[in-house]
Amino acid sequence: MKYKVRFVNPQKQYKDHKKEFLKTIDDVFSRGDLISRGDLENFEKKIAKFVGVKYAIGVNSGTDALTLSMQAAGINRGDEVITVGHTFMASISSIYHQGAKAVLVDVGKDFNMNSDLIEKAITSKTVAIEPVHLNGRVCDMDKIIAIAEKNNLSIIEDAAQALGAKYKTKEGKWKMAGSFGLAGCFSMYPFKMLGGFGDAGMVVTNNSEIAKKIKLLRFNGESREDRKFYYHGYTALLDNVQAALLNVKFKYFKQWITRRRQIANIYRNNLKDLLNIELPYYGDSRFFDVYQNYVIRAERRNELVKYLNKRGVEVLISWDTPNYKQPVMCPNKIFLCETEKICKEVISLPMYPELNNTEVTYVANCIIDFYKK
Ligand SMILES: Cc1ncc(COP(=O)(O)O)c(C=O)c1O
Repeated sequence: MKYKVRFVNPQKQYKDHKKEFLKTIDDVFSRGDLISRGDLENFEKKIAKFVGVKYAIGVNSGTDALTLSMQAAGINRGDEVITVGHTFMASISSIYHQGAKAVLVDVGKDFNMNSDLIEKAITSKTVAIEPVHLNGRVCDMDKIIAIAEKNNLSIIEDAAQALGAKYKTKEGKWKMAGSFGLAGCFSMYPFKMLGGFGDAGMVVTNNSEIAKKIKLLRFNGESREDRKFYYHGYTALLDNVQAALLNVKFKYFKQWITRRRQIANIYRNNLKDLLNIELPYYGDSRFFDVYQNYVIRAERRNELVKYLNKRGVEVLISWDTPNYKQPVMCPNKIFLCETEKICKEVISLPMYPELNNTEVTYVANCIIDFYKK
């Protein structure tokens, strides 16, 4: 099917910056700088400064960022980590990779961890909370930090979808997603906020021990200084050429965030009076959302998806099945009310900086037309 508005359009971004990308690849390949070179260090420094933390460590995916962070934080067999049922499976798998158990709590209307449910989920085995900043919106971190401090729990943030998202703390200070916990984990999968030309990820932290351990773990546990192996690690280093290309993209990153927020405004202005759908939360001045995804909740969701496809609009459903009903998680007795409802109602609309206003308005008008029928 030929779509009028694609859900993602990496070709457009490539076309816009083709010369710079090709020049960068040629430069890196001509230098022979393939593994752990200056472009990676340079990129890590930029991300650390941007997020406002001391260390950033490039790894080869968001999943590795989470898994290595869990391991570096000492999450172990028999431990429990509290996270949400409504997330990408990697948030949960990274806990199980340690032999620990993921205890899933429900999300609120903003799709993020419902902090009122955390304390009830704490047991004597709980060692950490993993908030997931979904769709480019930070969780209500004041409450989560207070609970973690009271119960002596670590926080490992799944910020895979939230590079650039901010939250104003009760002290009135704006802080970036990823900078609240012991470690913050980003995905740089091609369609994320800042996406590579393949899989990529980053851990950020203010803790020198965690940073050191992750640097070893991503290199099969081997220290580059004394060539000794300190851990059973992984081949999980962010490629130098990916880092070099991400350095190019980073020049435009703030501009791209602004554009995503403009697109969200266009959707909102066109759709706010439509009673059949719910738009992403808006208006709480503590949140600076970056709209990794623009997710609406819709009546007759599946019919709407078919209608949009017919009108040439490509959309995505993330996700139509709660994680705890996936084969890997069954059997279990979990039932999370909001998560169940969300799975029946959500649609992600096209959202990326290269969309033009006509395309965004077209998508909104198609939704309005559907409910007028
Ligand atoms: C919330 C969340 N966590 C973790 C990940 C894993 O990131 P990656 O695909 O880079 O491994 C993703 C990516 O889809 C995600 O959306």
